[in-house]
Amino acid sequence: MSSGSPVAGSSVYSSTGQPSAVTAPSPAPPSTAPRSHSSGDFAGCPAPGTHGRGGRGQDDRVERQLTSDLTLCVNGHPTELRVDNRTTLLDMLREQLSLPGTKRGCDHGQCGACTVLLDGRRVNSCLVLAVTCRDAAVTTVEGLSSRASAQLAAAQGPPPLHPVQEAFVAHDALQCGFCTPGQVCSAVGMLEEAAAEGVTLDASEIRERMSGNLCRCGAYVNIVAAIEEVAAQPVGAR
Ligand code: FES
Ligand code: FES
Repeated sequence: MSSGSPVAGSSVYSSTGQPSAVTAPSPAPPSTAPRSHSSGDFAGCPAPGTHGRGGRGQDDRVERQLTSDLTLCVNGHPTELRVDNRTTLLDMLREQLSLPGTKRGCDHGQCGACTVLLDGRRVNSCLVLAVTCRDAAVTTVEGLSSRASAQLAAAQGPPPLHPVQEAFVAHDALQCGFCTPGQVCSAVGMLEEAAAEGVTLDASEIRERMSGNLCRCGAYVNIVAAIEEVAAQPVGAR
């Protein structure tokens, strides 16, 4: 296209029916005046170069707002730590306390893989904020054998497995094992709930009460059999 040709899309038909060029108005030259930082689009923003000038004092204040110091009891051990207020109990256990037995499945409260006992009640740890567990007692699958050890006063050797863990082994109640820590913790909590309520556990009651714990390998038949075996034992022997 020659330099004199009308630009495509910029011509209209004149009254004579002939196309005529339309000269677009020149854009206004950019303003060289400095833009006020305290008005218009930038109101409320820090002045350029001042971001983060609060220094260490401000950093400390932000740190205090975002974190909390906690004391709680984990698997029988008094524990003190600082947590981000947004940290879940699951992440605190796995990432900060190096207890990877508790598994992350869905991270949305749907699968039960993350089940632990919080003050004796089973919870999905992916749905619990760690900061809400101040002064609580948390038991993970790593702590069940030591709990059994205390209960049975085992004197020597490695602590025995919890009776529910023993039953899972005896009944081959797992395949890949990913759901197993959650299944075991849930079963321990469920057995205590049922005992407190005076409920007799048959297979269908066990299935109902364990329905929040999914097993993608489909080991349900043996899981129920294992729990039935423990449920048949006297409460004091568990
Ligand atoms: S990981 Fe918590 S319920 Fe699935
Ligand atoms: S044993 Fe594999 S998910 Fe349950």
